[in-house]
Amino acid sequence: MRVFVAGASGAIGRPLISKLIAAGHEVTGMTRSEANAQDVRRAGASAAVVDVFDPEALRVAVEDAGAEVVVHELTALPERLDFRREDLYAATNRCRSEGTRNLLDAARAAGARRFVSQSIAFAYRPEGTRVKTEDEPLLDTAAGGFGRAMAALREMESSVLGADGIEGLVLRYGFFYGPGTYYASDGSTVADVRRRRMPIVGKGSGVFSFIHVDDAADATVAAVERGAPGIYNVTDDEPAPMSEWVPVLAHAAGAKRPLRVPAWAARLIAGKGAITFALELRGASNEKAKRELGWKPAHPSWRTGFAESLR
Ligand SMILES: NC(=O)c1ccc[n+]([C@@H]2O[C@H](COP(=O)([O-])OP(=O)(O)OC[C@H]3O[C@@H](n4cnc5c(N)ncnc54)[C@H](OP(=O)(O)O)[C@@H]3O)[C@@H](O)[C@H]2O)c1
Repeated sequence: MRVFVAGASGAIGRPLISKLIAAGHEVTGMTRSEANAQDVRRAGASAAVVDVFDPEALRVAVEDAGAEVVVHELTALPERLDFRREDLYAATNRCRSEGTRNLLDAARAAGARRFVSQSIAFAYRPEGTRVKTEDEPLLDTAAGGFGRAMAALREMESSVLGADGIEGLVLRYGFFYGPGTYYASDGSTVADVRRRRMPIVGKGSGVFSFIHVDDAADATVAAVERGAPGIYNVTDDEPAPMSEWVPVLAHAAGAKRPLRVPAWAARLIAGKGAITFALELRGASNEKAKRELGWKPAHPSWRTGFAESLR
């Protein structure tokens, strides 16, 4: 199939274009920079140097690619996440609202039949069961910057799922680890762990779901090829509380054991958003993606995956 990947130069985009090509697809990868376009071409794809906020150029690029499937992997987060910054998500929100609209319009104009979009598996409402399925409600009461991020996320998901004349699939990825992510050996989270700046907060009860970027890319190839329209959690097999995975990450990164801090102190240092994650976050079940996409993660757990990816 002819597949157009927006976000081809990103952490998931890079393995994704290689895996799509290996599966026999004809791939066009989008980036804003000529330097990243060179990498896209080196991987064996065609490159489109386009900004998602230039709708006319985007329409031409998707049409020129003859796209049958469009994949949305855009984001604009900084190299280090500072949850105290009110504008942390602003640029990503624009990619999710206006960017998604532009991509959907371009996909439809090109006659594409399927649209596969990223989303996140760490936005479930923090109540009830610790591990969530796709039909459970998302967070809808968050204040400030995170509240605006949730509004943009909901808008993105509903425009993809409700799009006329095109099959919409939403992949709610877990936290990425592996090359190019915050959890890579040169990533900011691992740097924090090495400096013992990633403590276990309170009881460390927030449940995280991770996914290696290579596994996320495999699931995305599967979603390009098959599966009914709808939402799929793309996470590994072991959602786990922070109290369990932070020490394993520290060990894998060659760091000392993580410190423990009370919730009130962490709130002062890292902000309310970080504390909500640390204490309240819910994990996500990958059963539906396994069953309906015929996919399973090659790295079934962060427990061995962190060490493998940081070797
Ligand atoms: N990181 C995580 O833990 C995580 C977890 C769940 C879901 N996700 C989602 O998965 C998706 C992929 O994440 P990632 O980590 O691979 O992102 P990434 O490494 O930051 O890559 C972002 C990509 O978006 C492109 N981009 C940004 N703004 C653009 C614009 N205005 N026009 C065109 N392209 C633009 C960048 O291209 P150029 O810079 O080359 O132009 C790059 O290819 C994102 O939507 C993210 O929110 C991430």
